[in-house]
Amino acid sequence: MKIDVLTLFPAMFTVPLDESIVKRARAEGLLDLAIHNLRDYTHDRHRTMDDKPFGGGPGMLLKPEPIFEAVENLARENTRVILLSPAGRTFNQVIARELAPQPHLILVCGSYEGFDERVREALADDELSIGDYVLTNGALPAMVIIDAVTRLLPGALGDAQSPGEESFSQGLLEYPQYTRPADFRGMKVPEVLLSGNHAQIARWRAEQAKKRTRERRPDLL
Ligand SMILES: C[S@@+](CC[C@H](N)C(=O)[O-])C[C@H]1O[C@@H](n2cnc3c(N)ncnc32)[C@H](O)[C@@H]1O
Repeated sequence: MKIDVLTLFPAMFTVPLDESIVKRARAEGLLDLAIHNLRDYTHDRHRTMDDKPFGGGPGMLLKPEPIFEAVENLARENTRVILLSPAGRTFNQVIARELAPQPHLILVCGSYEGFDERVREALADDELSIGDYVLTNGALPAMVIIDAVTRLLPGALGDAQSPGEESFSQGLLEYPQYTRPADFRGMKVPEVLLSGNHAQIARWRAEQAKKRTRERRPDLL
């Protein structure tokens, strides 16, 4: 999978996407990630990216020209252009699974008060929000999406781990998990997990996943 990110803050991406599973996926060629500075697509002396909104109002907007030029430069057949925006559909595991098989994504990060509406109308295939709150720019939302999508790429988690049993994978939250010691400060691991009976363990986990989901996220059921 190839992901191109357009941002005014490329430095924000360096550490988070150079650690852990995303780092390995990049090293193994599962993910080809490129971070582009939108200012590189401006042509004036001041590398201007923003301007005042027509009609007045607070703040500045991203100008359309550099974004159009960048996207047109990077897009190829089968590219999906995604704007990060609080007004987009809310990102979740279903959308992560929908994006994971895509060959090429361009993630366009907003800044200031957001985008000139023509970017939405003429360039975007999709608009995603990571939740009902306003961040200062689209870099963190883009990183959230890249992380969630990367761990779904075949081979990204390695043999030992699987996304199949994680929260949301079957529309449920994950069951409770324990590791050693079996008794920690008097808090004991449920007997069934020590029994070695795989059928019983699987049944217990399925029940716990349903119970936890019913209690915490009934909207998922
Ligand atoms: C300060 S915000 C602009 C908010 C915009 N004026 C509004 O009211 O919707 C600047 C940029 O941060 C990004 N952003 C902020 N919150 C976001 C969220 N919850 N999900 C996705 N992107 C977000 C978007 O790219 C947005 O264009």
